[in-house]
Amino acid sequence: MKINILVIVAFSYLVVLRSLMVKQTLNYESIFNFGDSLSDTGNFLISDNVNFPAIRKPPYGETFFNRSTGRFCDGRLIIDFIAEANGLPYVTPYLQSVQTNFSVDFRKGANFAVAGATANEFNFFKERGLSVTLLTNKTLDIQLDWFKKLKPSLCKTKPECEQYFKKSLFFVGEIGGNDYNYPLLAFRSYKHAMDFVPFVINKIINVTSALIEEGAVTLVVPGNLPIGCSAILLERFSDDNRWLYDSTNQCFKPLNYIAKLHNDKLKKGLETLRQKYPHAKIIYADYYGSAMQFFNSPVKYGFTGSVLKACCGGKDGRYNAKPSVRCGGKGSTTCENPSTYANWDGIHLTEAANRHIATGLISGRFTKPSLNSLQVQ
Ligand SMILES: *[C@@H]1O[C@H](CO)[C@@H](O)[C@H](O)[C@H]1NC(C)=O
Ligand SMILES: *[C@@H]1O[C@H](CO)[C@@H](O)[C@H](O)[C@H]1NC(C)=O
Ligand SMILES: *[C@@H]1O[C@H](CO)[C@@H](O)[C@H](O)[C@H]1NC(C)=O
Ligand SMILES: *[C@@H]1O[C@H](CO)[C@@H](O)[C@H](O)[C@H]1NC(C)=O
Repeated sequence: MKINILVIVAFSYLVVLRSLMVKQTLNYESIFNFGDSLSDTGNFLISDNVNFPAIRKPPYGETFFNRSTGRFCDGRLIIDFIAEANGLPYVTPYLQSVQTNFSVDFRKGANFAVAGATANEFNFFKERGLSVTLLTNKTLDIQLDWFKKLKPSLCKTKPECEQYFKKSLFFVGEIGGNDYNYPLLAFRSYKHAMDFVPFVINKIINVTSALIEEGAVTLVVPGNLPIGCSAILLERFSDDNRWLYDSTNQCFKPLNYIAKLHNDKLKKGLETLRQKYPHAKIIYADYYGSAMQFFNSPVKYGFTGSVLKACCGGKDGRYNAKPSVRCGGKGSTTCENPSTYANWDGIHLTEAANRHIATGLISGRFTKPSLNSLQVQ
């Protein structure tokens, strides 16, 4: 019976939305997501968008939604493709509840991610002499508090919650990328950013454990992207020393080293969590490896523009990502066909790039243990 319903759901999706959507191959019944702009489906737009007004209008959203939804992308994010793969609606931003006086039904999931969010709080940076303006103060801890506040509306008794969360997928991240972006973009050295790694990992592990203690059983914890391939950081670190660049993909090696260090420590942290919580399924998602596929072989993945240049932004600079002209701001231009670019606005990836990463996760090739080998019944 259940199988029949799934087939019908999957079939009607195919008919209505054709090949634009990812096929349903997973069967979670709700998704809870924590993170930053890589997975924010609208919270930043609702809460703090004064520091980044361009997000309110196209070209943000132009490829898929035809309007700005608050996603830092031309279209869908990785989490949107994950929702599609489960036959679920796009994950509703938690702050919609505030906007609509708590009349939103979150039983199919809630998205707590906020663009600009860091794993560590404001004082962490301040104590380290970094006087940057954070885009938002909605850290991972705040997002966890939001989840705790929402939980009583999802399930009441312990057995009821157990039953409900058994079929829920928790995404803890990507988060932490901004903990490095803030110092790096404030012209700190990469050594300085690297010193933050253990603190970022501690926070992610702490919040992941807290979620398990709240009842989460299946959690996907993504690592960092290859930030050495990020247009805005490449622009910022522009260096004439060719040996600092990877000869395969022209990405900046010291920055990718930070991402790799972060990912290695994260994987170790997750291993200790697996021992502590053997009942939980803790999945590491390799965003780095999945993205590296197209950075290493761009043409194979359709990125015939320049895979390291931003589609939307200023035309000056090597990577179309000089901070003086921001995507959607004065003097900015948008490339003709965003699907031939991996980088959207200097910082974020295009829908096309997100789709490739998501496909790698859904197929199980870049998730460990595999995301698609679940016995959800
Ligand atoms: C966006 O516009 C295109 C072209 O008009 C249309 O085919 C598509 O369905 C729209 N997408 C959404 C999500 O409304
Ligand atoms: C919000 O909901 C509360 C409780 O249901 C109600 O008393 C209040 O009038 C509502 N406020 C608005 C602005 O709708
Ligand atoms: C974040 O918190 C700090 C310290 O309380 C404050 O100065 C800053 O304005 C806040 N930023 C935002 C975007 O709310
Ligand atoms: C997370 O860290 C806080 C503050 O250090 C601590 O009180 C809490 O017990 C930790 N939570 C878990 C689940 O480890």
